Amino acid sequence: MADRFDVVVIGGGPAGYVAAIRCAQLGMRVACVDNWRDGKDQPVLGGTCLNVGCIPSKALLESSELYALARTQMAGHGVRLAGVELDLPAMMAHKERVTRDLTSGVATLFRAHDIAWVPGTGRLLAHRQVEVTGHDDAKRVLAAEHVILASGSSPTSIGVAPLSADRVVDSTGALAFDSVPPRLGVIGAGVIGLELGSVWRRLGSEVVLLEAQERFLTMVDGQIAREAMKQFTAQGLDIRLGARVRGSRTETKSVVVDYQDANGDHTLEVDRLVVAVGRRPNTRGLCAEDVTLLLDEWGFVHVDEQCRTNLPGVYAIGDVVRGPMLAHKGMEEGIMVAEAIAGHAAQVNYEVIPSVIYTAPEIAWAGKTEERLKSEGIGYRVGSFPFAANGRAKAMSATAGLVKILADAETDRVLGVHMVGPHCSELIALGVMALEFGASSEDLALTIFAHPSLSEVFHEAALAVGGQPIHVA
Ligand code: FAD
Ligand code: NAI
Repeated sequence: MADRFDVVVIGGGPAGYVAAIRCAQLGMRVACVDNWRDGKDQPVLGGTCLNVGCIPSKALLESSELYALARTQMAGHGVRLAGVELDLPAMMAHKERVTRDLTSGVATLFRAHDIAWVPGTGRLLAHRQVEVTGHDDAKRVLAAEHVILASGSSPTSIGVAPLSADRVVDSTGALAFDSVPPRLGVIGAGVIGLELGSVWRRLGSEVVLLEAQERFLTMVDGQIAREAMKQFTAQGLDIRLGARVRGSRTETKSVVVDYQDANGDHTLEVDRLVVAVGRRPNTRGLCAEDVTLLLDEWGFVHVDEQCRTNLPGVYAIGDVVRGPMLAHKGMEEGIMVAEAIAGHAAQVNYEVIPSVIYTAPEIAWAGKTEERLKSEGIGYRVGSFPFAANGRAKAMSATAGLVKILADAETDRVLGVHMVGPHCSELIALGVMALEFGASSEDLALTIFAHPSLSEVFHEAALAVGGQPIHVA
C-alpha cells in the first residue's frame, strides 16, 4: 500500500526544498525525496547549491579574498600585519561549518513545516506514484496528487580530460583540495572556472584557464566582459581564449594537457586540472520505462511557462529544466509551481533573472545586453559610470569597474543593467527592481541615493543615460 501525499517532490536542492516548503505553507501534505549524502554517508538536504555549489564556493571566495587583502591591501590602509599565513585546513573547516549550518537549517525548516523527508532515490512511476529506493536498497512507493521533479544537474564530463582521483577534478574536487596546487589548469573560463580559479590564484596557485570560445564570457555585455578580462589578467589569471583541448594524460605528479589555438599546438603541464565546461540535467533513471516524460533536444525536462511537463499533475523545476542554472531561478519556480497547484495565479518573470559571477571585482547583470539590443534592432541609449570616480569605492581601494544602464531610446524604460566592480552582487538588486517595476532611467536619476555609497555609481549611470552625470569633468 502506497503512502499518500498531496505533493511528492523529487530533489531537495534549492528548487525542490523551496517548492516543498511553499506547498506545506499552502496546507498540502508533502514528501521530499532526496538522495544526497554527505562525506560521512549521511543523508543531507540542500542539493548541489548548499553542499558543493553556491555556498561552499562563496565561503572559499570570501576566505581567500580576506587572505589576499591581508597580504596585499591592508598595509595601504595603515594596518600592518606581520606574518600573514594561510591555514588551509581552517579555511576548509569554515566552509564545512557554513555548509553544515545551512543544510541542517533546511532539515529544521522541513520539521517546522511537517514535511516528510524521504532519503533515497526517487523514480517516477505511472499515475503519479514515486518509487523510492533507500540507501539500504529497501523500496517503498509514495502516491501523490502532484509530483514535482527537481533532480538538478551534474558536471559535464569531456572525453579529452577524464577525471582521475584528485588530479583531474570537477568543481566538487576543486572545492576540497588538501593543499594549494602550485600550477592549476582549468578547462572552461565560465562561471565556475573563474570563481574557483580566483580562489586558488588568491591562495598562491599559478592559474591557466583554457577556454574554447574566442570571446570571453559570451553571455556578459561585451564592454563589461572586456573590463573584467583586464582586471583578471592584472590579477595573474592566465586566460587563453580559442583553446581547444585535444587530450590530456595524468603523470605521476602532474597532468599534461594538449590543446590547439589559432597559433598552433600547445602543451600545458599543471599539478591539478579542473574541468568546468558546463552542467547537464539529471534525468537518467528518473522515470520508469512506461512513463513517457518528454525531454527537449538537450535532455532537459520539457516544460511550459509554468513548469508543467507533458504528464498531467507532474511539474519540473530548477536545473533540470530550461533557463539559467541558478539557485534563485529554481527557487522562484518552486514557489510558482506550489502556488499553481494551490490554484493561485503564479508566474516567473524569466526576462529579469539576475546573474552574478562572484570574482573580485564581481560581475553582475540583469535584462538585455547591448549586443542583444543591437541584434533585436531595439533603439537604446546607454549611460555608464566608473567606480574610480566614487568616493566610497576609493575609500575601499576598490575602484576597478563600472555600472552601465541601457534604456529604450523612445520610452526611456530600463532594458538592461550591467556591472563589474565591488559588491555588484548586492548592487544588481537595484537594477532588478528597476526592470521589474518598469522604471525609466529618469526615475532612477530622480531617486536619492545615500552618500557616500557604491550605489551612487548606479545613480550616476542613470544620469549618464540622460547625458548629464555630475562627477565627470
Ligand atoms: P540541485 O541543487 O542539483 O539539487 C537536486 C537534488 O536532487 C540533489 O540533492 C540530487 O542529489 C537530488 N536528486 C537527483 N536525482 C534524484 C532522484 N532520482 N531521487 C532523489 N533525489 C535526486 N547558482 C547560483 O544561483 N549562485 C551561485 O553562486 C552558484 N554557485 C555555484 C557554484 C558551483 C561550484 C556550482 C557547481 C553551482 C553553482 N550554482 C550557483 C548553481 C546552483 O548550485 C544550481 O543552479 C542549483 O543548485 C540548482 O538547484 P536544483 O534544486 O535544481 O538542483
Ligand atoms: P559555464 O557554461 O558558465 O562555462 C563553461 C565554459 O566552458 C564556457 O565558457 C564554455 O565555452 C567552455 N567550454 C565548454 N567546453 C569546453 C572545452 N571542451 N574546452 C574548453 N572550454 C570549454 O559552465 P560552468 O562554469 O561549468 O558552470 C555551470 C553552471 O553552474 C553555470 O551555468 C552557472 O549557471 C552555474 N553556476 C553559477 C554560479 C553563479 O551564479 N555565481 C557559480 C558557478 C556555477
